Amino acid sequence: MTTYNVLTLFPDMFTSVCGSSIWARAISAGLISVNTTDIRDYATDKHRRADDYPLGGGAGMVMKPEPVDACFRDIMSRSEAPSINVYMSPGGKPLTHGLVTRLASYRTVNILCGHYEGVDARVLKRHIDLEISIGDYVLTGGELAAMVLIDAVIRHIDGVLGNDESASGESFVNGLLEYPQYTRPAVWDGEAVPEVLLSGHHANIAAYRRQESLRETARRRPDLLQKARLTKKDIEFITRRDSLNP
Ligand SMILES: C[S@@+](CC[C@H](N)C(=O)[O-])C[C@H]1O[C@@H](n2cnc3c(N)ncnc32)[C@H](O)[C@@H]1O
Repeated sequence: MTTYNVLTLFPDMFTSVCGSSIWARAISAGLISVNTTDIRDYATDKHRRADDYPLGGGAGMVMKPEPVDACFRDIMSRSEAPSINVYMSPGGKPLTHGLVTRLASYRTVNILCGHYEGVDARVLKRHIDLEISIGDYVLTGGELAAMVLIDAVIRHIDGVLGNDESASGESFVNGLLEYPQYTRPAVWDGEAVPEVLLSGHHANIAAYRRQESLRETARRRPDLLQKARLTKKDIEFITRRDSLNP
C-alpha cells in the first residue's frame, strides 16, 4: 500500500477526486491511501491561526511555521519508509515523467500544500526533501498541484490501472508522444479511421502506431525526439524525405 499524506488548509478539496474513478477504485482495493490533514488542527492559539503577515512587509499572508512543523512531526512519526516530504511550489523541480516514476517507488509521500504567499522558509528548510512545480504559472494553492502529482504517480503503482488501461504505451513512457487514438464508429461523419486499424494484423498496427508516434512527436515536441531511444528503423523513417509531413 502506498500512502499519500496531504498537509493542507483545505482538505475538503480532495473529497471529490478521492471518491471518483481510478482514485476511488485504488483506494477501495487497498492499493493506495490518500489522507488529508488539516494544518489548522495543529495551531495552538484559540483562533486556530495558521497564517500571519509577512515579516518585512508586503501583500498577503504567509503560512506560520509552528502548525506546519507540528503537522509534519505527527505525520512523519507514522510514515512508513521509504518516505519523502514534498512541497508543491512554483519554484520547485518541474514534474516530469521521470520524476513521477521516481516518486512511485516511495511507500509514503507527504505533500505540503502552500496557500496565500507561501510557507515560512524555515519550516520548509527543516522538513522538505523536494520542492515540485507543475508548471511555470502560479496557482492559488498547492492542493490542485498535489492532486496532479498524486494522479500521475498512482498510474505507475502495480494494480492501479486495469490491464486495458496500462500506462506502458502512453506518452513520455518511451520518450515519445502517443499515436492518435480512434474508437467506433469506423466511419464518423464521412471520415474513416486509418484502414490498418481494422485489419486485425497486429504487427502492421504496431508499426503504424510507432510511425504515428514518431510523426506526432516530431511535429509537436521535436525536443523529445532528440532524447528518445530510437531504433534504426525509426531513424530511417524520420530521415525519409517528407515522411513526417504527409
Ligand atoms: C499563490 S501561491 C504562492 C506563490 C509565491 N508567492 C510565489 O510567487 O512563488 C500559493 C501556493 O500555491 C502552490 N503553487 C502555486 N503555483 C504552483 C505551481 N506552479 N506548482 C506547484 N505548486 C504551486 C504553492 O504551494 C504555493 O505555496
